[in-house]
Amino acid sequence: MRFFEEKRREVMKHIEKYMLEKMHEFLKPIEQIWQPSDLLPDSTRDTFFSEIKELQESARGLSYDLVAVLIGDTITEEALPTYESWLSMVEGVDKDQHSGWMTWTRHWTAEENRHGDLLNKYLYLSGRVNMRAMEVSTQYLIADGFDIGTGTDPYRNFIYTSFQEMATNVSHRRVASQAKKDGDTLLSKMCGVIASDEARHAKAYKHFISKIFEVDANEAMLAFEDMMRKKIVMPAHFLREVGLKVGQTFGHFTDAAQRLGIYTAVDYVDILKELIEDWQLESRTELNEAGEKARDYIMALPNRLLRVAERMKNPMLEYKFSWIHG
Ligand SMILES: [Fe+2]
Ligand SMILES: [Fe+2]
Repeated sequence: MRFFEEKRREVMKHIEKYMLEKMHEFLKPIEQIWQPSDLLPDSTRDTFFSEIKELQESARGLSYDLVAVLIGDTITEEALPTYESWLSMVEGVDKDQHSGWMTWTRHWTAEENRHGDLLNKYLYLSGRVNMRAMEVSTQYLIADGFDIGTGTDPYRNFIYTSFQEMATNVSHRRVASQAKKDGDTLLSKMCGVIASDEARHAKAYKHFISKIFEVDANEAMLAFEDMMRKKIVMPAHFLREVGLKVGQTFGHFTDAAQRLGIYTAVDYVDILKELIEDWQLESRTELNEAGEKARDYIMALPNRLLRVAERMKNPMLEYKFSWIHG
């Protein structure tokens, strides 16, 4: 066990320099990146109230399911304290606040923080949301935390974040196009810019894992297999509403996302396929027997999951969220 942890720390130290080299590519300079107020009505202007009126008129066209998904996405973004504290506990993250990995985590968090901020303000202005009910869910989710099955292992954590950044990219991108179809171009733009942040973050975490594969392929493969056997759970899997138990709202949120095609079982498989390709699993030869078995398991997984996805019925149950007004 000691050896295991020491090796992890050594590898994290090794890939830290590649991370620092590319940090300015993966995260944008603060002076250049968009801020929520670039996309929201400016309350110092005389036109503020007419702009809100316009915003509310467009928001009226959004379907019930889309509003539900958007609220679930927003709450997920707003639970950022959970993710930041989690990442700082990972093995190999030197707890000195000026260390490379702590710097990465802070800068990543600083970018992510804009997502919940923007969506929350939009939802507040939209006139579609019972804000108190939503805020209760957010507070619950942060208090409840999550259980993503990574432990403090950096390999499992970066596999998880690679997957998750890709998943949020897909889901924000789809909300953007659905919002456009429903006639809300402002919301579409908001989700579009968030999605492009997520794509950059996905690139970063995928790069870290690629670097890990270069020096510790066998252990990286075993970590990947383990995460896929456990299944990648979404960070909001403990989502609940007032009066409900931990996790009881989550299924209704994912049902709405599946129904609208915002994030589906097929998307899960597509992300897995992309990771298999990016990390060049097929051509990995430097493996021992366990590593080879792990690779074979992962390589066979997309087809297995697709067969399951095909048999899945679209969830039909209508559910009334406390979050949605009226
Ligand atoms: Fe985000
Ligand atoms: Fe993200």
